[in-house]
Amino acid sequence: MAQINLLLIPGPTPLPQEVLRAMDRQMTNHRGPTFGRLVGEMLDGLRQVFQTKHDVIPLVCSGTGGLEAAVTNFLSAGDRVLSVNNGSFCERFAAIAERYGARVDRVTADWGHPVPIEAIAEHLRSDARREYRAVLVTQSETSTGVHNDVRAVREALGDHPALLMVDAVSSLGAIPLETDAWGVDVVITGSQKALMSPPGMAFLSVSDRAWAAAERSTTPRFYFDLARGRAAIHDRFPSTPFTTAMTVAYAVHAAVGLILREGLPQVFARHRRMARMVRAGVRGMGLAPLVDDAHAVHSVTPVVMPEGVDGKAVVARARDAYDVLIGAGIGRLEHTVVRIGHLGYTKPEWLLAGLETLGRSLADLGHPVQTEAGTAAAREALEAAAQR
Ligand SMILES: Cc1ncc(COP(=O)(O)O)c(C=O)c1O
Repeated sequence: MAQINLLLIPGPTPLPQEVLRAMDRQMTNHRGPTFGRLVGEMLDGLRQVFQTKHDVIPLVCSGTGGLEAAVTNFLSAGDRVLSVNNGSFCERFAAIAERYGARVDRVTADWGHPVPIEAIAEHLRSDARREYRAVLVTQSETSTGVHNDVRAVREALGDHPALLMVDAVSSLGAIPLETDAWGVDVVITGSQKALMSPPGMAFLSVSDRAWAAAERSTTPRFYFDLARGRAAIHDRFPSTPFTTAMTVAYAVHAAVGLILREGLPQVFARHRRMARMVRAGVRGMGLAPLVDDAHAVHSVTPVVMPEGVDGKAVVARARDAYDVLIGAGIGRLEHTVVRIGHLGYTKPEWLLAGLETLGRSLADLGHPVQTEAGTAAAREALEAAAQR
């Protein structure tokens, strides 16, 4: 029998009933008029969520495939690239670029801290010959919970011709990302996070400058050739170049409708409320979020474990004793943090239950915390946010 867990990891996220129902649908011809209409509507909606008038290209893959598509379509072996690098997913984007032969410079910060904009600007200023072809930024660094300030990076670029490519896998639809207004060339996201859909599709928005770079790029590509993707969405019956993940498209179509009906500003405000509530709860319990409030992203909260506690044991206890799924740390934070996801479809009562479970699990492992004070602080923060 299927177990009902409370899913509080930073993606995949729970799915709204409307999205679940949308998937309960028969297959049809993926190149026919019925499905083409649905894809057209889905892409119109996604353009609003991406805040772009440019094409949004759907791909059948997870978010990492989207990152790989950005590298193979817009870069060539030998290109110099600047990676804004303060966590596991920033490093993944950089590693993909290196794997395809790019020469990557990393401008780093300790995990849990933002990369100083001045350090990024300094790297760009020192590139007197303007060799950087792209700057890679992960807006919501899901491993640490840091919000990397895309608009500030764009301003630091000034008139430097490098493309700005943003991994928005855990941020698009959770926090503002004004693709066109800020001048972002490539934005990549996945279906399974704030888009409230199952894993299986990635989406990229592409500026005119990025399309021009794609024409110059000499990197071999086939499945992820975005020019083919563009041709397929401009077909009479829009689709993907190869057989598509129809059920995921049904879901994304429904989820984007929900997001637009709620309104983007309201969706962002809801994520802000959830994040404030969780951070207040964590502090009220006597624990500490990894990231200070000024730089914390509103989609995930990594919580520092008390000295001597293995975060993985806490995650296992929460799952095995309480059926609550919270995220383990990643990479060098594997044992020292646990991550509470609050992006996409979340509810305050689920997060309150998650906080309570975190406290109970720590107590079970011999490290009692102020669980009730934590949930009370979370409730208070939620009420305060509602009155604002
Ligand atoms: C910021 C970020 N980038 C990339 C990825 C990779 O996406 P996927 O696991 O869908 O390949 C993730 C997944 O958690 C992510 O959070």
